[in-house]
Amino acid sequence: MKELERIKNIGVVGAGTMGAGIAQVAARAGFLVILHDVREELNEHAKHSISNNLRLELEKDRISDGEYKKILKRITTSTDLKALLEADLVIEAISENLAKKMELFSNLDSMLRPEVILASNTSSISITKLAAATARPDRVIGMHFMNPVPIMKLIELIRGISTSDVTFKIVKGLSEKFGKVAIEVNDGPGFVSNRILMPMINEAIFTVYENLATVQSVDEIMKLGMRHPMGPLQLADFIGLDVCLAIMNVLYEGFNDPKYRPCPLLKKYVDAGWLGCKSGRGFYQY
Ligand SMILES: NC(=O)c1ccc[n+]([C@@H]2O[C@H](COP(=O)([O-])OP(=O)(O)OC[C@H]3O[C@@H](n4cnc5c(N)ncnc54)[C@H](O)[C@@H]3O)[C@@H](O)[C@H]2O)c1
Repeated sequence: MKELERIKNIGVVGAGTMGAGIAQVAARAGFLVILHDVREELNEHAKHSISNNLRLELEKDRISDGEYKKILKRITTSTDLKALLEADLVIEAISENLAKKMELFSNLDSMLRPEVILASNTSSISITKLAAATARPDRVIGMHFMNPVPIMKLIELIRGISTSDVTFKIVKGLSEKFGKVAIEVNDGPGFVSNRILMPMINEAIFTVYENLATVQSVDEIMKLGMRHPMGPLQLADFIGLDVCLAIMNVLYEGFNDPKYRPCPLLKKYVDAGWLGCKSGRGFYQY
């Protein structure tokens, strides 16, 4: 596919947990990556974590020393959004906040060539809404990577109401070049993955809130009883409690259904700045 072959430079916006992983996977697949975040230390932190991950791959003989250096060299970082002018496709991975994402999509749209595809890694926000902030809604798509990006095989590909077939095919092909399996879904609050996962995590938090069992017991029950590799509360810490709360709010508001009410304990932890692994404290201490 010609349009896919033309993609050489990939812009990644947001150098947090997900953005860093996406940059790593794209660079490892041979693409040039421009990684953008608002502060230099965030870019530096991302580069450091990518380098550490690749070093592990080097130690396990999955890549050579030459490849390790080449992959890192393919990633440049910038705090200036204009650095993305070279990008042939942009993947947005900033915080899960509708207003922030709308503003970014509008800025990217006014700045980038009209054929450039804008993909969002949002966990739950409407792709149709993000697309409406641009003059290229046919070229906007959801590209929902899973955490940790270098390890997890799935990309949930979300079609907004106006996403074109061509855009879908290009991004599906790109996902395959990344070594991932892309599964198509339509737009709806939480898509499929988080529509199922988050209410389960929220319910696990309710069981702790209502004193039915300890954090450890809830996680052990789901691991030993349901064969989950990780308990729901440990997984919540890993995802980020702020991200979990943001997704529950999207489900709650999107369906206007009280069954998606975020647990008050989840809100309290986020208010306290207990965000899970990334802040050093969530349901567990790190
Ligand atoms: N954490 C997960 O497990 C997970 C999984 C799948 C998808 N997601 C989604 O990926 C996105 C990012 O999540 P994360 O966990 O990496 O968050 P994070 O908090 O680790 O990183 C977000 C980064 O975005 C940056 N940012 C915020 N506004 C920006 C802007 N306007 N321009 C440039 N950078 C900006 C922040 O400085 C931060 O470094 C969210 O939409 C989230 O819902 C997260």
